[in-house]
Amino acid sequence: MIKRVLSGVALGLSMLALAGPAQAQSYPNKPITIIVPFAAGGPTDIVARVIAAQFSSSLGQQAVVENVVGAAGTIGMVRAARAAPDGYTLLLAGMSTMSFSPTVYPNIQAHSINSFEPVGIVASAPIVLTVAKQVPANNVKEFADHLRGMGDKVNNGHAGVGSSSHLACALVNQRLGGKASVVPYKGTSQIMHDMLAGQIHFLCDQTTSVMTQVQAGGVKALAVLADSRSKALPAVPTISEAGYPGAEMVLWNAIFAPKGTPPEIVRQLNAAIAKGIDAPAAQKQFSELGAEAPGAGQRSPEALGKTLAGDIEKWGRVIRDAGIQAN
Ligand code: MLT
Repeated sequence: MIKRVLSGVALGLSMLALAGPAQAQSYPNKPITIIVPFAAGGPTDIVARVIAAQFSSSLGQQAVVENVVGAAGTIGMVRAARAAPDGYTLLLAGMSTMSFSPTVYPNIQAHSINSFEPVGIVASAPIVLTVAKQVPANNVKEFADHLRGMGDKVNNGHAGVGSSSHLACALVNQRLGGKASVVPYKGTSQIMHDMLAGQIHFLCDQTTSVMTQVQAGGVKALAVLADSRSKALPAVPTISEAGYPGAEMVLWNAIFAPKGTPPEIVRQLNAAIAKGIDAPAAQKQFSELGAEAPGAGQRSPEALGKTLAGDIEKWGRVIRDAGIQAN
């Protein structure tokens, strides 16, 4: 009897061990959903659509982007964490949601490390300080004078409490001595719309989504919040060159899978990311958008896991110092 129970357990365990590779062998055999936790047309969404197009050709299945917005990306993050760990529902989120939420939203039903398998970084892009055309400032110094003179009559849009557009502009505001009013949105694409209409006066967003309007003269780019200038915006000084160091922020966007996704599937997805970001069409889009694909040492799931853990600690301190908290 005992022998029969033991052999049953052994059979169960060996079937469990086989389930991973067998599942991975047939993967993917249906479309993949990529949850983007911000509005369509923003920086997170733009990167997601570049890689989704590549996934469709490299994995042989369509990848569909679903925007699940709100609370600085944490609503979409929780949705993705609750999905079946089978590789068919993924999350494409940035440093903003994944690295900031453990500090800003400690009580949500997902944690960027405990609830996900890191898959791979897709692209990184610096944040640019942009102002509406109506703002009477053509450089950071003039903007600082304007901010101080106008107090809370200056409106800053951000994509939710604790998003990168929030934190980056909070740091800029602090460094420039302003007291701007903050207006929350569900993604920076909607802020750009209101900035073009002159209702929002400044925005801190990645090159990925502001490039088009900067080049078209719809908004003015005053500084790149990075240690070096962006190749896509070579005439725009860094915030340090402009005289206000200490507000640098370069964001990565990466793919995560729900915790428990078989390692073979994670490896397959990671290989598809590498193939996708090296494809000439993606390279062209990234360079036009001021985004960069990760270097060789930054491409593995392990490298993403390490970057995430380091960033949670680093940005946790900055967030606490800036006094940013979800209510
Ligand atoms: C942010 O962190 O502010 C997001 O990147 C905004 C967005 O994707 O719309």
